[in-house]
Amino acid sequence: MNPSAESRPLRAPYRSWAEPWKVKVVEPIRMTTLAERQRAIAEAGYNTFLLHSEDVYIDLLTDSGTSAMSDRQWAGMMLGDEAYAGSRNFYHLEATIQRYYGYKYVVPTHQGRGAENLISKILIKPGDVVPGNMYFTTTRAHQELSGGSFVDVVIKEAHDPASEHPFKGNVDLVALQALIDEIGADRIPYVCVAVTVNMAGGQPVSLENLRAVRELTRRHGIKVILDATRAVENAYFIQQREAGQKERLVADILREICSCSDGCTMSGKKDALVNIGGWLAINDQEVFEEASNLVVLFEGLHTYGGMAGRDMEAMALGIVESVDDEHIKARIGQVEYLGNKLIAMGVPIVRPIGGHAIYLDARAFYPQLTQDQFPAQALAAYLYEDAGIRAMERGIVSAGRNKETGDHHRPALELVRLTIPRRVYTQAHMDIVAESAAAVYDAREQARGLKMVYEPRYLRFFQARFERL
Ligand SMILES: Cc1ncc(COP(=O)(O)O)c(C=O)c1O
Repeated sequence: MNPSAESRPLRAPYRSWAEPWKVKVVEPIRMTTLAERQRAIAEAGYNTFLLHSEDVYIDLLTDSGTSAMSDRQWAGMMLGDEAYAGSRNFYHLEATIQRYYGYKYVVPTHQGRGAENLISKILIKPGDVVPGNMYFTTTRAHQELSGGSFVDVVIKEAHDPASEHPFKGNVDLVALQALIDEIGADRIPYVCVAVTVNMAGGQPVSLENLRAVRELTRRHGIKVILDATRAVENAYFIQQREAGQKERLVADILREICSCSDGCTMSGKKDALVNIGGWLAINDQEVFEEASNLVVLFEGLHTYGGMAGRDMEAMALGIVESVDDEHIKARIGQVEYLGNKLIAMGVPIVRPIGGHAIYLDARAFYPQLTQDQFPAQALAAYLYEDAGIRAMERGIVSAGRNKETGDHHRPALELVRLTIPRRVYTQAHMDIVAESAAAVYDAREQARGLKMVYEPRYLRFFQARFERL
């Protein structure tokens, strides 16, 4: 943990850490006035997804595809083999995934949801149920499009922003067993385990829990498919928090995480330090063959899957950089720096601090607003107005509607996600973010809610529009 500047002793024994890289290229950012931001967010229908990025000062919308690549990765882009079939960069990527994630077969996809589409189409039949440790938007949407339903089997602490459980992403084994007993293993094609759990605040799953899920599902002949999008971050938390793991390398822990599963979907845009790319990896040959057939329809040939050769090269190199212990320590360390600063300022956030983001607790900001007044959406808009910081709603808007009843899903967590891109912003940027969040918190009593005036049918949070009440 890097204590905030105020609490840090000025002399030894405390020693600061810093990032294991230096800056070679900079991208200037446009500064805006309050009046410009008020106009921009109103024009965007109070949805931060609809802002022009030119109007944003510090962009914490997502850590997806927003990382800064290294000079090695940029050099790798020049080695792109753009052959339609059999690109050498694909074989490099395949070997790298096999080495670091440990699966037998690899199908490249343009990003994570491409892999989710493939696995859902192959394994889910209409009427099936897919248990998972909290839903993720695109993952659940693909499960539903294939005729399945998602059932949440995350431990109850995941729904409590104040719980300090070190592994809030854990699967509730009793709930999973009860579901299998109730509906039968035949209707459960696989358990989807996200490492870490984005919607719970970037919270990790313990190795102990993963091993137990593997054992339970093996007894019933049910597959385990990981959402490995942030598995390296999860591995770091295991190293730091789980008994007996301190001395292990993050890369070793990552291999063990994956060994508790039959395959994974992956958005390379997060851990793997690239702007685009993903994959499906699997140990079962039949599933692999089916995925290799389907990928041609939806993504591209099975040796590029929607990526250019140069993108595959950058991702292969990014994977190797991502498992470096010094890299991941600095990545999570920056998130902790911001989180600790906010805690010290009394701003309500999800505890413990997660891997890729700080989650502001919008219910605690705005107890005067009902969930139908979209408190987290409103908070994200106020944050943007205050200092040009772009965050994302992760509450009732993101949760969407129940596909049977048409009612809103009403998640217990009503959060705003401040997502930290990898290797992009400095500690000074984090200070600005903390000060702005604190100012918005101080003005909480004047906050007004929103009403939704346009609602898209799928993944509404991306394009929904609102007006201030
Ligand atoms: C946990 C998780 N799973 C899946 C995805 C989907 O990945 P992509 O955005 O690359 O399609 C994301 C990112 O948005 C994610 O955070």
